[in-house]
Amino acid sequence: MAERLQRQHQDLLTFLAGVAHDLRNPLAAMRMGLRLLDRPLPEDKKRRTSELVDRQVTRLERMVGDFLDATLIESGHLELQLRERDVRELVQEAVDLYSLSSPDHRIVLSAGDEPVVVRADAERIAQVLNNLVSNAIKYSPAGGDVHVSVAAEGGEAVIAVQDWGIGIAPEERKHIFEPFRRSGASRETAPGVGLGLSVARQIVEAHGGRIEVESALGRGSTFRVHLLLAAAAPAHATAPAAVSSPRAADEQP
Ligand SMILES: Nc1ncnc2c1ncn2[C@@H]1O[C@H](COP(=O)(O)OP(=O)(O)OP(=O)(O)O)[C@@H](O)[C@H]1O
Ligand SMILES: [Mg+2]
Repeated sequence: MAERLQRQHQDLLTFLAGVAHDLRNPLAAMRMGLRLLDRPLPEDKKRRTSELVDRQVTRLERMVGDFLDATLIESGHLELQLRERDVRELVQEAVDLYSLSSPDHRIVLSAGDEPVVVRADAERIAQVLNNLVSNAIKYSPAGGDVHVSVAAEGGEAVIAVQDWGIGIAPEERKHIFEPFRRSGASRETAPGVGLGLSVARQIVEAHGGRIEVESALGRGSTFRVHLLLAAAAPAHATAPAAVSSPRAADEQP
């Protein structure tokens, strides 16, 4: 018991340090951008500076969304607002949000002409997609393409986000969905708290879906989210679902 409390305390401290560190970078970039915008600037420099500020706002929004969702999941209070949605639209929004976020990356979307309808909490699924796309960009430091695809396969909507970045070693792959877990290679590549994927997995599983990764170290990664198609979803999935984390569930009497 004492050991567990000690570990939880240590986790909390690591979390707070990570949060503070991660919030500081975008804030510093925004302050610098705002200072620049205060001066007379050529039009193109002005545009690039406001794009930079805009990117930092996107990044902060994603992080704050993760913190909020993690808190709700941890306390067992994440409530899903389920509605029928065409996944292609949600994916398009995530692609649009991130397509200007890095001049060195190109985000390529492929989705068919037919709607791919699921019953989902659009805001939560957007958070999942934002996490996957931002990871794909962040862990491809040399730039390049990020492929995002949506397809209906065997009663499921399958969303894939593929990059050709640093990849994940086999022994680290099973741990990356745990909170605060980061691979050795990623620590040298980019800052991060290590919360995005754990939040993503909890949200996807709360929808009755699953998330998987395929990866080769140094060659890239593909994350796949599987959600039941609305036509195939069982009737109970039509009611708003309250979710608790596995740990909270374990602690129930
Ligand atoms: N596309 C990817 N390529 C390589 N490694 C990845 C990729 N996505 C995730 N990872 C690994 O999984 C770890 C966990 O990812 P996660 O998104 O949870 O955290 P993070 O990106 O480090 O921080 P944040 O909380 O800001 O998202 C990362 O630190 C990285 O080691
Ligand atoms: Mg991340």
